[in-house]
Amino acid sequence: MNCLSPSILSADFGNLARDVSVAEQNGAKYMHIDVMDGVFVPNMSMGFYVIESLRKYTDVIFDVHLMITRPERYVERYAAAGADIITFHIESTDCPDEIIDAIHKCGKKAGISIKPATPVSAIEKYLDKLDLVLIMTVEPGFGGQKFMPDMLDKARALTRIKNERSLNFDIEADGGINTENVTLLLDAGVNVIVAGSSVFAKDKIAENTEKFVNILNSYEVDNA
Ligand code: DX5
Ligand code: ZN
Repeated sequence: MNCLSPSILSADFGNLARDVSVAEQNGAKYMHIDVMDGVFVPNMSMGFYVIESLRKYTDVIFDVHLMITRPERYVERYAAAGADIITFHIESTDCPDEIIDAIHKCGKKAGISIKPATPVSAIEKYLDKLDLVLIMTVEPGFGGQKFMPDMLDKARALTRIKNERSLNFDIEADGGINTENVTLLLDAGVNVIVAGSSVFAKDKIAENTEKFVNILNSYEVDNA
């Protein structure tokens, strides 16, 4: 199933619940929540208190992207705050297996993300256990950056492995995605599309979301 995961990093932080609800009402099934610690990436965003507060206003799937050092310290906190999918970076930890198991023990879906310089081979041995793989299509840390087309090869390679091994994980891409380039990602096998500035910027959240969701849905129908 294709789905849109709007990144609330580009939403109005003073009106998060309102912005999330507009995106949800217009067809977004996931909400992408970027957690940054100022160490793993040179920026800070939000943490479990924000997620916990937002959880009271929506049942949408919270797709939490941890850009933090040693995420093993906080899996339970993010699960308790209301995350549904918890994705951590392979570059941020020495114990990926333990983290995947901890996420699953909390009853949540587990994802691993790779930065632009990290090859798919770095996560190959975990694929059997994963629910999602997140390919960064910009350097993590900031919204509004330019999409890196070289990352499409990684999506294709991952799709190939997924098919060869008959695995079920979702393939997500994050960074610089808009309604102009999204089809390139779908063609490469990506089925969860993160979009921040192209959904929440410009005060047209409803139209932006609807436009994305229509592209994703018609792609699915055309390629059924
Ligand atoms: C960047 C974040 C992204 C970001 C995407 O580190 O992981 O989720 O919000 O923003 P856009 O879609 O504007 O590139
Ligand atoms: Zn993200």
